Amino acid sequence: RYERSWLLFALVMIVVFLIFIGYTLTGFAFYVPSAAERIDPTTVRNEGSLFANPRVEKTGDNVYTAYVLAQAFTFLPGEIRVPKGAKVVFYVTSPDVQHGFHIRGTNVNVQVIPGEVGKVEHTFDEPGEYLVICNEYCGLGHQDMIGKIIVE
Ligand code: CUA
Repeated sequence: RYERSWLLFALVMIVVFLIFIGYTLTGFAFYVPSAAERIDPTTVRNEGSLFANPRVEKTGDNVYTAYVLAQAFTFLPGEIRVPKGAKVVFYVTSPDVQHGFHIRGTNVNVQVIPGEVGKVEHTFDEPGEYLVICNEYCGLGHQDMIGKIIVE
């Protein structure tokens, strides 16, 4: 009779795992970064390019769009300020080598590849300072490549 309860337990665990997998797929698929478009890394900073003037702009009701340049060894803009509850759509690219765009305390983590525009969005429900770090080794200044997002 113990065998039967163990069998039942195993079946329940399988169902629980399946539910977890389903939850992960639906809950986090949203955060998978996508290469929104291709861009010529050599002209990315030129006038007329989306990234000529790295910035954050209001594009809706507490919705913001940020054009971020990850370059050796800084993020531009270095500081992004948005109000609490803001949804921010980030477009990130690099004019030089591969970088990372990871916002600490969130699951935003984009591999920034020259020639590609990474797109990711996040809603900042908690006020505070969020560090942006590069988590791809990009050269001697890699560890100093830090940005900031201030949610107030
Ligand atoms: Cu940029 Cu490491």
